Amino acid sequence: MPKHIAVLPCDGAGKEVVPEAIKVLRAAGADFEFEEFDVNADSYLRTGVAMPDDVWKQLAAADSILFGAVGDPRVPDANYLAGVLLRLRFELDLYVNLRPAKLYDDRLSPLRREDRRHADLLIVRENTEGLYVGMGGRFKKGTNDEIATQEDLNTYLGVTRIIEHAFQIGKREVVMVDKSNAMTFAGGLWQERWKAVAAAHPKVKTRHLLVDAAAMQLVKDPSQFDVIVTGNLFGDILSDLTAELVGGMGIAPSANINPSSGRGLFEPVHGTAPDIAGKGLVNPVGAILSAAMMVRHLGVPEMADAIEGAVESAIRARECTRDIGGELSTSQAGDAVVKRLRD
Ligand code: NAI
Ligand code: MG
Repeated sequence: MPKHIAVLPCDGAGKEVVPEAIKVLRAAGADFEFEEFDVNADSYLRTGVAMPDDVWKQLAAADSILFGAVGDPRVPDANYLAGVLLRLRFELDLYVNLRPAKLYDDRLSPLRREDRRHADLLIVRENTEGLYVGMGGRFKKGTNDEIATQEDLNTYLGVTRIIEHAFQIGKREVVMVDKSNAMTFAGGLWQERWKAVAAAHPKVKTRHLLVDAAAMQLVKDPSQFDVIVTGNLFGDILSDLTAELVGGMGIAPSANINPSSGRGLFEPVHGTAPDIAGKGLVNPVGAILSAAMMVRHLGVPEMADAIEGAVESAIRARECTRDIGGELSTSQAGDAVVKRLRD
């Protein structure tokens, strides 16, 4: 039976890059049945509903979800984003967010020191808790006495399972990143769970870094890192930084998965890129590499390797979009990857 893939291009750049990812999956010979859903800002504006119930049911039942990006200047980000992407992450309990950063060509590094440019690391971001759960409130709103709170939710289960997952992947070293010197309650729980889980994996080297030091070390020498495990907010921020170390937002992929249920949502890290969307300028590589992560998750690692290899070779040949030094349009860049898969 072919795997059933729910496709949600959503808005802006998402609408341009997702078709390229599908094109590459088909060329790679993936036995998938794609079903596209009309979840986007236009339908939200028309109906007032971010995601209709019947669509939700079908997404929840799909083998995997291939996602573009959500966001539109005409709709307030918070409600719409929460109703689509955060809802999928939270309600499908996609608690692992994998964000790899690999330098495919030396020229894509912004770092001056050649000996420290090499990057092939993975950020394992907690994806269902932390500061993104939407708990808190605004008191005396709109007055000079206003008080705003934003709760940082951390559970024993949530912290334990994400650290455990990092150890399932980490071969060389697992680095845990928090801000436990200043955020002592949440940091205290992370520290305790970190030490307990690390003790159960004595063969893997471990290191702890405060998030500010981690940001500094990532820029100083990314080659030192293998797997970094961290909370929702820090993972979000550090993964934009690591994306920029290997070529920018256009090429960064991500996977949102639940290793127990097998559910997964795969999406480029970037948003809808309103500054360049709709002109054939957006880079499809982030979406294509996310599709490769989906294939790997669905149990076909050779196909994932083939897609990644084709992307790497296209990038090295400068058969890519402008943001990474080529001259091709979005769909030509997709074709360049397809051509290498067929060679
Ligand atoms: P963004 O990721 O859309 O853009 C940031 C910068 O990266 C821009 O200069 C853009 O041109 C560039 N960029 C992004 N994707 C690119 C690609 N494929 N190729 C080449 N360059 C690319 O982030 P921004 O501007 O902060 O947000 C725009 C909208 O996207 C907002 O509505 C935001 O809420 C939404 N957003 C959605 C996300 C999602 O669906 N997961 C993630 C981040 C933002
Ligand atoms: Mg982000």
